[in-house]
Order: sequence, then structure tokens, then C-alpha cells
Amino acid sequence: MTPLLLTDRLGGLAFGGDYNPEQWDEPVWKEDEELMRRAGVNLATVGVFSWALLEPDEGRYDFALLDAHLDRLHANGVAVDLATPTASPPPWFTLAHPDALPVSPDGTRLTHGSRDTYCLAAPAYRDAARRIASALAERYGDHPALALWHVHNEYATLCWCDHTAAAFAAWLRSRHGSLDALNDAWGTAFWSQRYTSWEQVLPPRATQWHANPGQVLDFRRYCSDQALAAYREQRDAIRVHSDRPVTTNLMLPGYQNLDLWAFGRAVDLVAVDHYPAAPGIDAAADTAFGADRARSFAGGRPWLLMEQGTGTVQDGDRILGKEPGEILRHTLGHIARGSEGALFFQWRQSRAGAEQWHPGMVPHAGPDSRVFREVTAVGAALGRLAELAGSTVTARVAVLHDSDAWWALDVDGLPSAELDYHATLRRTHRALWDAGTTTDFAHPEQDLSDYRLVLAPALFLLSGPAAVNLRRYVAAGGTLLVQYFSGVVDDRGHAYLGGYPAAPLREALGVRVEEYRPLRRDERIVLSDGSHGTAWSESVRAEGAETLAAYTHGMLAGAPALTRHRFGAGQGWYLSTRLDDTGYAALVARLLAQAGVGPELPGLPPGVEAVSRHAADGRRWLVLLNHRADAVRLPAQPDTTHDLLTGGPVGELPPGGCAVLRGG
Ligand code: GLA
Repeated sequence: MTPLLLTDRLGGLAFGGDYNPEQWDEPVWKEDEELMRRAGVNLATVGVFSWALLEPDEGRYDFALLDAHLDRLHANGVAVDLATPTASPPPWFTLAHPDALPVSPDGTRLTHGSRDTYCLAAPAYRDAARRIASALAERYGDHPALALWHVHNEYATLCWCDHTAAAFAAWLRSRHGSLDALNDAWGTAFWSQRYTSWEQVLPPRATQWHANPGQVLDFRRYCSDQALAAYREQRDAIRVHSDRPVTTNLMLPGYQNLDLWAFGRAVDLVAVDHYPAAPGIDAAADTAFGADRARSFAGGRPWLLMEQGTGTVQDGDRILGKEPGEILRHTLGHIARGSEGALFFQWRQSRAGAEQWHPGMVPHAGPDSRVFREVTAVGAALGRLAELAGSTVTARVAVLHDSDAWWALDVDGLPSAELDYHATLRRTHRALWDAGTTTDFAHPEQDLSDYRLVLAPALFLLSGPAAVNLRRYVAAGGTLLVQYFSGVVDDRGHAYLGGYPAAPLREALGVRVEEYRPLRRDERIVLSDGSHGTAWSESVRAEGAETLAAYTHGMLAGAPALTRHRFGAGQGWYLSTRLDDTGYAALVARLLAQAGVGPELPGLPPGVEAVSRHAADGRRWLVLLNHRADAVRLPAQPDTTHDLLTGGPVGELPPGGCAVLRGG
């Protein structure tokens, strides 16, 4: 069965959110119908946390309310993204199957009373999840309202229980084949950790001191594979009864425990949740980071923003609201980068319960509110952008992204605690965003030949095939920047010997790193080009590369800090320290110029974002977002005669203003 494209069915971009009518009653449902029409909602995610309602006792289903709501939504012109409720098993389930409750690394078995309280390896949980997914699909698989299946919600719970131990051991057996291979992979010759039977092998539970990094890395891989298996099981149960596309919503970058490339291949439509990690201009950059990731995990195909907030911007220990106009700008930030719509968590702000302070599309204050007026304006804007549906985004620059590299860098015992994977990736992406470049993420083993420039930050773990792939990319004419502490260990987490990075890659870079020299906290080292580095330095020997900037003091004085190597038809650059923001921006600008990649729209001041989408038939749209507090005149080049948002020409973008130019 070929799943139908979501936006074909909707006739345009998706707009709506999580709809939880079980928290309300008849008069509110009636008002919801009117407000959804007013806001232009065309898609509602239903049933995410409805397990207790749908299966009040084990094996006894009650679909009365869901029947009524699906029919009601359909009659109101709203399509349904129907969730399986398996992220939140009801209390009866956990009392009947206490062994399905998750156990933390220190052995504490968690109790119900929150959500996401399950162990993916517990047979009772898996059976119950599959059964309810199947029952829902059987009943609603061809319901006229149904546009999309939403399996589970944010696969995220990790568990260290005995079911997990058994499943982990089975996973290890199939990965490594024998105990000898496992012992070798985990380096158990150190600290007398040698395993002599599979029963001795455990998940990385609380230990006295550093855990074994090989065990930790394999456990993260196992957890991701287990979540993927759980997803596939529900997806396949659904497909028996339904031809509608199936997805699951992937979580925010820093919380994600999944191999997102693998999930991208397993879903019919990549769907992500995104809540900015910082306010102001950082929120706009973070939106682009999340959206570029989602598009990349979708292999460049259209994807969907499954959740965002009408407020909800993280700022350390508090959650801020969005400023006026930000709901639209963040929404268009996702649309610009390929999303097929924008959904929110949640339609109506809860009156009670654990997330009663999480803003909704309809806030506690009701529809006579700034938030609902802005939501309505966003719905109207998306209605005018229907023609963008199905179009895609092309990038000429890629940042390498690999869950293995992240997980391998997320262990004890590294030479510095300042080697945060996502912070480093965000920084690289941010420098490209500041330069006005549209960026993809790419897997280190994939074909990179479409990219003129590839950046490899924090690529600590680099598989043998990836090292060969990167060498090949440079030889064939690509420009590659490899950043410090990359290509250090292989896919078992074993250090490459004879100098870093891994030998085939080293040839393309023309350098050999002999020694890592983390810097003292607050230490700043000055480079010969006037930039400076913090956190990290390396003793680098040029083996063919030219030195573009050298260290100026200490034992590394005169040694290369930034190098370039002409290799084959391309260039391999190596950066061995963490540059300050200005120095890093200058390096990125230099690389972009060398690779012949200009900004999406030249001549824009900082803080104005431009991204284009294009359709297979040659139509193009340019999305412009002014994140600045002042008005911005647009450069002469784009055709500014038709802004889809207003239907008229654009002269200048007002503070916080947006435009979507057809043919731009
Ligand atoms: C996630 C969940 C939602 C809700 C929001 C709150 O994205 O999927 O159920 O908890 O976070 O931000």
C-alpha cells in the first residue's frame, strides 16, 4: 500500500495541534468547533494520552467518545492525526504488570502518576501497545477523517530493568556474535571486566566509578533499536488495516535518544517537536537548527512540525512566553525549511493536570486574547501558503551528524567536560545561519557529492567507512572542515593508533595530531591570525597541509592551529581548537567563499532570514523573516511584487515582519 501524501489530502499545509477533548465537556466541544473554523485548523492530533479512556480495563475497549469526536471533527472539516496512546499506560496496566514499569540505573522502579512510565523491553507492555494500536487501526483505519497515524509520543523512556538486561544481552549477541568479540569490543581486559557468560552482561547500571564506555555506547544503540522495533511493531499492526501514512513525533535535539537517520527511514513522514532552547534571535536560530535537522532526517523530503508552543521558550530555569509576532515567525521558520505545516501542543490549555501552565492555542483566558488572535493570524497565513505544499529545500552545505558520535562523546572519562556534542553542532550550524546559508545535516557515510562544503564538528567517533568516505569527498573536489577531537575512535570506541584523526581522513587533511591538550578552565590562547581559542588545543604536525594560523605561546608556539591541504581536486581543512565567535565566523565565511557558496539572498543585514523552497515543476518561493527590531529594506534582486502573505508587493520588511515571495 502506498500511503497518501498528507498535504494532498489536506489540499494545503497542515495547521492545528494536539486536541484532547477528554479534558473538557460538551459546551467546550461546541466552542472548539467554532474556534477551529475561525483559526483555520485543518488537522487535529487526537488520542495521544487517551489510553485510560479507550481501554478502561485490560482488553475492554470503549470507543464511544473517540467515535463521536472523529465524526464531529470530520463534519467540521478537520482531518485527524490519530495517535496510539502508548506513551502513557493507565494505572490498571502498571498494577497488573509491575514488571513493565521502568527501572532507573540505581535500581529504583518508577511508579505511575506521571507519563512515559513503561519499559520497551517488557513483553506485557509491548503486547498491550500492539493490541491497542491494532484495535484502533481496525476501527478507524479507513475513517474519512483519518489523514495520518501518530504512533506513540516521543519515544524517550530508557530502562535498566531485568527485561532490559535480557533484551540487551540478546542484542549484543546478534551484534558481536560471541563473548570473545564482546570482550574485545568493550576492552574488558582493562579493570578485570572480562565476561565469561552472557548472564553476567548487564545494562550500564549505577557503578562505583566510570562505566565502561563500550558498554555505554552499545546500550545507547540498543535503546534506539529497541524503540525502533517498538515503533515498527505498531506501524505494521496499523498497516494491516489502514493505508494512511504512519509517523511518530521525534523529540527535541538534546533529549533525543534515537538514531534519527534510522527513524527517518522507518516513518512515512518525518515529524518533529520543537520548543526553542533560548529566547530572542537565538530562538530563531534554534528553529532553523531543528528544522534543518528534520528535513535532513527526512532525506530532503517534506516533513512536518508536529508540535510547537504558542509560548514555551526555554531560558535557563524558566519558560518564557513568545513575543508578539514570534508565533508566526517561528512557524514560518519551519515552513521555510520544508515543513508541510505547523501543529501545536496543544489546542486548548489544560485547566488541570501536570501541564496546566503549558500554553495552548486557546489559552485559559479564552479566544478574546492576544495568543488566540495570533494563532488565528497564523492559520490565515498558512491558508495563503497552500501552494508551497510538497515543495522542497536544497542546501549546498552540510554539517555531519551521527548519533554514534554523540553517544560516544556522552561518556565518563573524556579529557574535557567541555566537549558537548549538540552545543558544538549548534554552534557550527549557527555560524552558517548567521552567514545566511541554508544547511543540511548529513551522515558521515552517505554520498556527499551534492555538497560544496562539509563541516565535521565533534565527530569523535568515525567509522572506517566514514573516514574513507570523507577522504573520497575531498579527493573528488569537496571542501571539508574537520574540527578538533574528531576521527578519534572507531565504531567500537577504540582509539585510532598512530596519530589522529583516522588514517584515511588524515591523508586528506595533511595533518597528524600527536597529542590532545585540553586548556585550563578560562584559559584563552592567541593564534597568529589574531583569533583565539578556548577549551581545547592539540599538538598538530603538518604533513602536507599549509598552516593558516599557528599557536603563539606555550609548548605549542609555532605549531599549526588551523590548516588547509589541497588534496586531489578538493581541500581538507583542520581546526584544532575552539575558536572565539568572531574568529569562527571569519573561518566559516572564508570556507563558504572558497566553496563558492553565497548567502541565500545577498545584501541582507544580520537577523534577517531568507530561505527558498522549490517545486519539481520549477516554481520557487522565497521566505523572508525579519527577526530585527527595525524595518529592513529589501535588496533589488528578488521579485517583490507578490507577497503571498498579503497578496501585494513588499517594499520593506517591518520590525518582526515576514514575507513569502513567489518566484523569489
Ligand atoms: C512534548 C510532548 C507534549 C508536551 C510538550 C510540552 O513535546 O509531546 O505532550 O508535553 O512536550 O512542551
